[in-house]
This record gives sequence, structure tokens and C-alpha cells, in this order.
Amino acid sequence: MRRRATAHAPGRINLIGEHTDYNDGLVMPIALRLGVTVEASARDDAIAHLVTDASVSPPEASYEIGSETRDRTWVDRAKGVTAILARQGSRVGGFDAAITADLPIGAGLGSSAAFAIALLRALSELFDLALDDAGIVRIAHAAENDFAGARAGLLDQLASVYGRRDEALLIDMRDHAMRSIPLPRTAELAVIDSGTRHEHAGGEYNRRREGCEAACRHLGIASLRDLDERPLDTVLERLPSPLDRRVRHVATENERVRQAIVALEADDDARLGDLLSASHRSLRDDYEVSTPELDRLVELAMAAGALGARLVGGGFGGSIIALGQRGRAKDLADRVLQRYRGGHLVAVVP
Ligand code: GLA
Repeated sequence: MRRRATAHAPGRINLIGEHTDYNDGLVMPIALRLGVTVEASARDDAIAHLVTDASVSPPEASYEIGSETRDRTWVDRAKGVTAILARQGSRVGGFDAAITADLPIGAGLGSSAAFAIALLRALSELFDLALDDAGIVRIAHAAENDFAGARAGLLDQLASVYGRRDEALLIDMRDHAMRSIPLPRTAELAVIDSGTRHEHAGGEYNRRREGCEAACRHLGIASLRDLDERPLDTVLERLPSPLDRRVRHVATENERVRQAIVALEADDDARLGDLLSASHRSLRDDYEVSTPELDRLVELAMAAGALGARLVGGGFGGSIIALGQRGRAKDLADRVLQRYRGGHLVAVVP
């Protein structure tokens, strides 16, 4: 048994394909350089003791492995991880974990998944669990869903484990088939945190997901991906409001992902930008997951010359991505942030 182990997992942006993952749809994440690091060391008792420098509350917590109970804080993700490991027969002893994050937390950039994955990697090494990537994705996702209570899809976990910094990863959530798509050579993305935070667990996120499930029952289909083969207008006519708008977002977003692939392959940055902006409008008007702050950031980015911009991640706060010409994204973000208080530039991608 190792006495010490350190592991890192990255956050992500998603170029396009938002709120499609739990609908068997298409997503296109890119891993960030920023992420979460866990330094763990084994203890002789059964206590998990966690400390973090991230701006989360509480900064320090302890619990007994085998007696995990939810407290509705970030610690639930660690409790979920150790409880699920125990349930599957992996032997985990007590440990101290120091968690550092250079990724903003709760900013729609996959920080929860990055934390669970970094912790799983550190524990796998510390206790010789030999977890493979697929197992890490599965357990991190279950910790979020079964323990933390956010019925999130698999986007963040797959992006953190398989994503690359210099390519977009097209994932078909129907069968998890993955394909690398080169990023534009003449454009880059500014990732701007609005400074406002989302709360996924038990909130609007889960309600959107329930809406999609209700629409499927209404239409007699297994998932909204089954709409690929049907004329959208006739489908939407059969749905009550707001389910019609929710479904329109998901179906048109999948189509925008397909068109984004074409735009990327044709080096058509202007077209890609238009698709990002169309995605934002759809998330704002049809899926209703934007906020005044995110809309304002998108508007400011367009006024500053962005080719396109949209909220990224689940919404209800968090961050936007803005597409600008190569070498110009930082300048673009600076101009946006001169007119918006409380935000900051998180990264320029790639
Ligand atoms: C959050 C969830 C993901 C995905 C996005 C929206 O990040 O964790 O599973 O649903 O929102 O695309």
C-alpha cells in the first residue's frame, strides 16, 4: 500500500452541444489546463479528513468511511466516492486529502467532476484499487447523481478523463463513440467567468431533465435522440408548453453540433461563431437556463467583436465562451470585463 499519492483532473469547456448529454445527444468538450489536484496520504484509522484552498464552504471536513451521510456541501462528492467504492468491494482506509483548485468552482467548468476524478485517481493509487478510466468515469458520475443529488449527464466526467486541450472531443452519448475534431487554426476562445454561481443539486437542472423525460413519455420514444429521424415541427405541435421549447432546444442543438463539425472542417470561423450564438439564444429562450449576467456577457462579447459567444455548461450562472480571432481573445475579454463587474478571464483556449 502506498502512503502518499497525488492526482490531477482537468475542468472542461464544451464548444457546443449543451444539455444534450442526458438526452443521448452530441457534445464537443475541450479539456482545460486548469483543474483540481488531490494530494492524499493514508491514515491508520477510518477517517477521511479533507482540506481545501478552494473558495468553498467548509474549507475543512472529516467523516468516517463506511458512515457517509449527506450534508449538501461539496464534501458529498467525496462521501459519494468512498461510499460507492465500498459498495463495489474496493477496500479504502482512512486518508488525509489536501485539495487545491486553480479552476473556479461552480463556474460551469466541470469542477465537481474534476474533484471526484482527481480523488478517485489518488485513492486508486493509495489503496491499490487498480481503477481504470471507465470505472473512474462511472464512479465519479454515480457520486454526483446518487450522492450529491444532481442528475447530471456524463459530459463532465468523460471530458475530464478523455478530453484534450488542443482538440475538441466529439462524443455521441448514444454509444459513447468519440472522435477528435481539430480546433480552428485562425480562432480561439476566451473563457469568461461571470462571477455568479449555479446550484445544480435539486434545482432547475433536474427540472429540465425531468421535462425531457416527460416529453419522451408524451411522444412514446426512449430518448430525444430518436427525433433525429422525424420532422421537428409535427413533433413540437404535439407537446404542451414549455416541453415544446425544451425539445426544440435539444433537437436543434444536436443539429448545431453537426453543423459545427462541418464549419470546423471547412475552417469557417464565422459560421462556427454564428452557431455558438444560435446555441446561446436557444439556451436562453427555449431551454431557459441563462441569466441576465450571462446574457450581458454574451452581448458585450459580440459588441467587442466576437465571432460568436454563448453560456457554457449547465447555466444558471457560471461562464461564457467567446470565439475571437487567434491572438485576440485576451484583448476581447479585457474589453468585455471593462464593462462588466465581478467577472474574470479564466483561460484562452487552446
Ligand atoms: C452540467 C452537467 C452536464 C451537462 C451540462 C449541460 O455541466 O454536469 O452533464 O448536462 O451541464 O450541457
